[in-house]
Amino acid sequence: MGKLLIDLESPWVEKYRPQTFEEVVSQNLAVENLKEFVSKGNMPHMIFTGPAGTGKTSTALIIAKHAIKKENYFSNVLELNASDTVRMNYVRSVIKNFVSQNLALERNALKLIILDEADNIPNQVQQALRRIIEKSSLNVKFILMCNYINRIIDPIISRCAVFRFTNLSKDKVIERLRFIAKKENLNIPQTEENKFYETLFFISGGDLRKAINALQMSVALELLKNLDSNEILKVSGFLDNSTLNELLENIRSKNLIRSRKTLETVQTLDARNFLRQMIGSLNELDIQPGYLNKTLSYFGDVDYRISQGADERIQLMSLISHLIKSSIKEKE
Ligand SMILES: Nc1ncnc2c1ncn2[C@@H]1O[C@H](COP(=O)(O)OP(=O)(O)OP(=O)(O)O)[C@@H](O)[C@H]1O
Ligand SMILES: [Mg+2]
Repeated sequence: MGKLLIDLESPWVEKYRPQTFEEVVSQNLAVENLKEFVSKGNMPHMIFTGPAGTGKTSTALIIAKHAIKKENYFSNVLELNASDTVRMNYVRSVIKNFVSQNLALERNALKLIILDEADNIPNQVQQALRRIIEKSSLNVKFILMCNYINRIIDPIISRCAVFRFTNLSKDKVIERLRFIAKKENLNIPQTEENKFYETLFFISGGDLRKAINALQMSVALELLKNLDSNEILKVSGFLDNSTLNELLENIRSKNLIRSRKTLETVQTLDARNFLRQMIGSLNELDIQPGYLNKTLSYFGDVDYRISQGADERIQLMSLISHLIKSSIKEKE
């Protein structure tokens, strides 16, 4: 392989995980406040909440690095995720041991307990956790991370400072992708460059992890030379533009059978992606004015049913038939 200059060995999401507060893209308000807490040494318990791939774990690791000396890292930082916390006794004993272990010299050194995926911790265990947080001494601080804060019980929320992370804007995602492309010496044809980044952003939906993975995948699959956004869309589980247009046309002409045939040609169908793409194309569908609300809530229903394990293709077909019903009647 020798002459391969581009680094494909390590996942870029890890290679370009921000190491300092300054490097964390776009979460300015949250990060400014955090920096202050950490530098003053009066850290509260904290909850980081927000969508996937927006920098929660990265920020928690930066805090741990800033607040705890390297040589004490393993004794003073405890990282757990939800699967570790299914058994309450395990949580109790691990946390208890961790808190009571003291280095002889530094009795009151800060200890951090980082709980990832806290929204998946069963309620009963959360209740136990609440007691543990309540009783913990001043030098022990918790950082909980979650995507859905409404799954965390109130008594825990009220004991923590909540930091909300948001999806990254298009500009910020593209800026970070350009930064990585430059570091990796990627050769992106200039005429296609903007479109390429726009496509990556579309795929990501503001999730920087997804954006970076899509970039690395495009390189790994050697899609950069003859840059074709449709290929990138396809390998990322979206409809390419011509398939999408064909489907929209079939819906507009109220042809359910042909719509189904089009959908059948899609090999890597990802239902969630499909919903996002269709919602983005709604204005091309001439939905009858009085039907728009209903249509949008139908999207919500389908999304919910899929999340509960319903058959994806059946759900998507039902969405398509709903769209056909709701679009403007053809003139006779
Ligand atoms: N705000 C950001 N600034 C810079 N890089 C980011 C940011 N958010 C995400 N990334 C990139 O995405 C990767 C994943 O981010 P991170 O693990 O912090 O996400 P998360 O918010 O914890 O997501 P999840 O909810 O899925 O756990 C990082 O390694 C980094 O490459
Ligand atoms: Mg995380």
